[in-house]
Amino acid sequence: MRCSINLSLHSRARFLSPALLALACSLLSSCSQEMASQPKYLPLAPSSFFADGRSARPLVKGVVPRGSLAQEALAIPPNSNDFPIPVTRDLLLRGRERYNIFCSECHGITGDGNGIIALRGFRHPPSYHIDRLRQAPTGHFYDVMTNGFGAMQDYSAQVPPRDRLAIIAFIRALQFSQHAPATALSSADRDALSHAADAPPADSSTPADKDPHE
Ligand code: HEC
Repeated sequence: MRCSINLSLHSRARFLSPALLALACSLLSSCSQEMASQPKYLPLAPSSFFADGRSARPLVKGVVPRGSLAQEALAIPPNSNDFPIPVTRDLLLRGRERYNIFCSECHGITGDGNGIIALRGFRHPPSYHIDRLRQAPTGHFYDVMTNGFGAMQDYSAQVPPRDRLAIIAFIRALQFSQHAPATALSSADRDALSHAADAPPADSSTPADKDPHE
């Protein structure tokens, strides 16, 4: 019994198949969509599909931004001495942390240019304690981190604008630490300094004290 039904279905399908095929072909050809002209909304085109009539949809709640105008507004032009945010203890601590992570391996913990990578053969960075870099505007440091400088790659991907400012603030503190006037010291430190002056001078000339760009 089952066998005879199967047979009759089979024979009917064989009879119908040319007609079905023709129908399928005509349907397919009338619905076919050219790859080159796909339905889409052009930017800011109106839409009757959404209740507010806009095809551009508002951001979903909780979207996480990548980069931001507020961060870009912190940029300092290369020849400017501006510093757009207050220098606080927290900013300096953040700057020290970021500097030690991203800069000290070449520039050295004190900024003398004797980081471990330079000692192992990479081009020696100049010391931050040469006159030219002591007098360089804050914008120069911002520019070097953003765009790189000579053999040094840029750090714009690793160090966002606010951290670049934190690092600049810390480099200024490093520069001050190696070039502070004696009057900035406490009286105890000044005493220690004058006793140290009686001792034989230490040899402080290192190759990093020389500026390769002079
Ligand atoms: C992989 C090593 C390396 C790292 C990491 C590095 N630098 Fe440098 N940097 C160099 C070298 C090398 C030079 C000298 C490039 C040249 O003169 O061609 C340099 C030069 C500089 C200069 C001096 C530019 C001038 O006017 O002479 C500044 C400022 C500077 N780097 C800041 C930074 C800061 C800030 C960081 C961390 C965010 C950093 N660098 C990370 C290798 C490095």
